[in-house]
Amino acid sequence: MAKLPKLPNIVRGKDYIETKDWSIKEIELALRTAGDLKKMFKQGKSHRYLPDKTIFLFFFDKSTRTRNSFEAGATQLGAHAHFIAAETSQVAHGESPKDMGIILSSYGHAIAIRHDLVPGEGNTYMRQVAEYANVPVLNMQCDIDHPFQTLADLMTIREEFGKNLRGKKIAVSWAYAPSYAKPMSVPQGLITLMPRFGLDVVLAHPPEYKLMESEVEYAKKAAKENSTKFEIVDSMDEAFEGAHIVYPKSWGIESLFHTPEKALEISKKYKHWVCDEKKMKLTKKDSIYMHCLPADRGYEVTDAVIDGPHSRVFPEAENRLHTCKAIMALTM
Ligand code: CP
Repeated sequence: MAKLPKLPNIVRGKDYIETKDWSIKEIELALRTAGDLKKMFKQGKSHRYLPDKTIFLFFFDKSTRTRNSFEAGATQLGAHAHFIAAETSQVAHGESPKDMGIILSSYGHAIAIRHDLVPGEGNTYMRQVAEYANVPVLNMQCDIDHPFQTLADLMTIREEFGKNLRGKKIAVSWAYAPSYAKPMSVPQGLITLMPRFGLDVVLAHPPEYKLMESEVEYAKKAAKENSTKFEIVDSMDEAFEGAHIVYPKSWGIESLFHTPEKALEISKKYKHWVCDEKKMKLTKKDSIYMHCLPADRGYEVTDAVIDGPHSRVFPEAENRLHTCKAIMALTM
């Protein structure tokens, strides 16, 4: 078997909880590694960077892409991923994040956690585990950020428009969805990451659907420091005007995640916040439509758009595999 190119050690052992915790240089390394791993995967070349290693996948919420990209990715890297549903573990009986972090660290090489539904809980929980774990803690989505999703999003955007994204505009917009109060972490992850990588960001939402103040403040600061733009508007049309990338998706109301039915009731006022072909006409001719998925088809987006020529949702979902493998290979 051909010898694998050696991976740099600069983030070996490092947690990946928010993209903010990683420098631009470290994120560039992750993107480069994801690109290399994608090539090897497509060429059918073995890339077992993590033989005999173990990662624990701890889920407090449901998943299709995240669970399967981590499980498939770990196997392809020569590692093994254990799936743990939080409600079937002793965490459901109140076992502490400290004890969990210490014990799972002694059994394997990384702990990945999804804990995303309640503002104020998931990120705090992960950071408590990380304080006591001596292996990397990886955030598979919390209340604040979804760093594996946004890394895959940035990879997809660069595949489309190249590495230099200066002058390109991304519209991150709220959209109506009746299925459930979706976490705020994807739009927050987008507004905090994209201004650091050259994109101008316009965030659109109805007045009740504000993102966390800390994340909006970070986005403003990141735009200023990186000579990009960040603005907030209250109309999907205004955000879409002249956009190169549109990312319309639903999210809940920060103060109503304990009573999600109230948030869903309020959202009914905004059923017209749907991404359809008329709205896509406001964007640049070569614009792309993105969504982290799952999407509420017929509500957040029409079939004509998500299945149409602007849509990149499937390459975007595929890049979840390559980016999660990159972070595992570099940190574990
Ligand atoms: N986008 C995303 O995280 O998908 P899952 O919820 O299916 O993991």
